[in-house]
Amino acid sequence: MKLTILGGGGFRVPLVYGALLGDRGEGRVTEVVLHDLDADRLYAIARVLNEQAAGVPDAPAVATTTDLDEALCGADFVFSAIRVGGLEGRANDERVALAEGVLGQETVGAGGIAYGLRTGPVAVDIARRVSRLAPDAWVINFTNPAGLVTEAMSRHLGDRVIGICDSPVGLGRRIARTLGVHPKDAWIDYVGLNHLGWVRGLRVAGRDELPRLLADPDLLGSFEEGKLFGVEWLQSLGAVPNEYLHYYYFNREAVRAYQQADKTRGAFLRDQQARFYDEMQRPDAAALTVWDRTRAEREATYMAENRETAGAGERDADDLSGGYEKVALALMRAIARDERTTLILNVRNQGTLSVLDTDAVIEVPCLVDANGAHPVAVAPLPGHATGLVCAVKAVEREVLAAAASGSRATAVKAFALHPLVDSVNVARRLMEGYTAVHPGLAYLA
Ligand code: G6P
Ligand code: MN
Repeated sequence: MKLTILGGGGFRVPLVYGALLGDRGEGRVTEVVLHDLDADRLYAIARVLNEQAAGVPDAPAVATTTDLDEALCGADFVFSAIRVGGLEGRANDERVALAEGVLGQETVGAGGIAYGLRTGPVAVDIARRVSRLAPDAWVINFTNPAGLVTEAMSRHLGDRVIGICDSPVGLGRRIARTLGVHPKDAWIDYVGLNHLGWVRGLRVAGRDELPRLLADPDLLGSFEEGKLFGVEWLQSLGAVPNEYLHYYYFNREAVRAYQQADKTRGAFLRDQQARFYDEMQRPDAAALTVWDRTRAEREATYMAENRETAGAGERDADDLSGGYEKVALALMRAIARDERTTLILNVRNQGTLSVLDTDAVIEVPCLVDANGAHPVAVAPLPGHATGLVCAVKAVEREVLAAAASGSRATAVKAFALHPLVDSVNVARRLMEGYTAVHPGLAYLA
């Protein structure tokens, strides 16, 4: 079984490889091909993987290449985890937006649109190549903004591309833990778009346990989302939102905190990662140790500004271990071995949310087997959530239309229609600001 990882020089690749090393089952991945545009990044990550594999019998073989077509040929699975424009691009996405007084997060608001405009054409090119060179491969998309990018690729790959995110899993796990329930025994009633979803129920043995959580202020205030959103707001909503909804419900505070921060998240990661990759070029570097230290620092500081505005304190130690690689491996296993399981994934709607058309990519629990991911029926969202989901999906559609046509006016429309961009004039200035800093947006005329 051959797995190709696009963005193979990326910092989180060792998480995936670590998960593969733990998989001893039939039909497991035996060959990993890392593709990246940057040979130094490939070298750095290959060093970490090499140390991870030490002493593990039958560790999957690792090869690296900067040739995309070569990487894709013969792949059974393709993981796409690329970052068009790099972390410098992410920092610029934030900076330009914050200068206009709006949010520049990599997936939410103006920053997400700028990132989507850069990534859309590249993702479509990859999808076309996959359908030509590896038509039987399954593509698992991690690339953010994951919902939008998955939808762009699905226009060429249909249901053979599946988007993943660890946020909903982490949320479900935290709620289950808080309720004293094993996550495996719980059915999480979650739906929305990527980074824009809500847990409306958590059923154990046929009974919804979420009302018990919502009714108990101590329990509700004891975990990440309770601290972030506050007990009262969760009780008002009657649901637990994905952590990324903090950027909507507390937008003003989040924007201010990002403006006041010494460094935005993107700038922090840009510098942190630059140090890591520099260090990896030294022949005596302790690759795995340095990588792990860097990873721990990255995880501990995740959404730090949001937590600070909410007075939420440090992250819970149990929340630090991620889960991104576990979702990826579980998905791959279910498909490769027909091991039927349920995962929250980004797939085409196919009638699940009646307010959206069939091809709109949504984030929803899916049954997964050798035939792919099948969204399950869920209850409709309440009006306020439907409103946000439809507004943001409409923005995503403008981004994809701009990426396909190269129309600058359509890109401006995408910015202007976003609920977190408060004036058409702001949208126009964002467009100017972004095209000035991003060479990857030169196609918009
Ligand atoms: C969460 C999100 C991902 C994101 C990751 C890392 O897991 O769901 O989409 O890539 O956090 O965020 P960071 O700010 O560390 O890049
Ligand atoms: Mn995500």
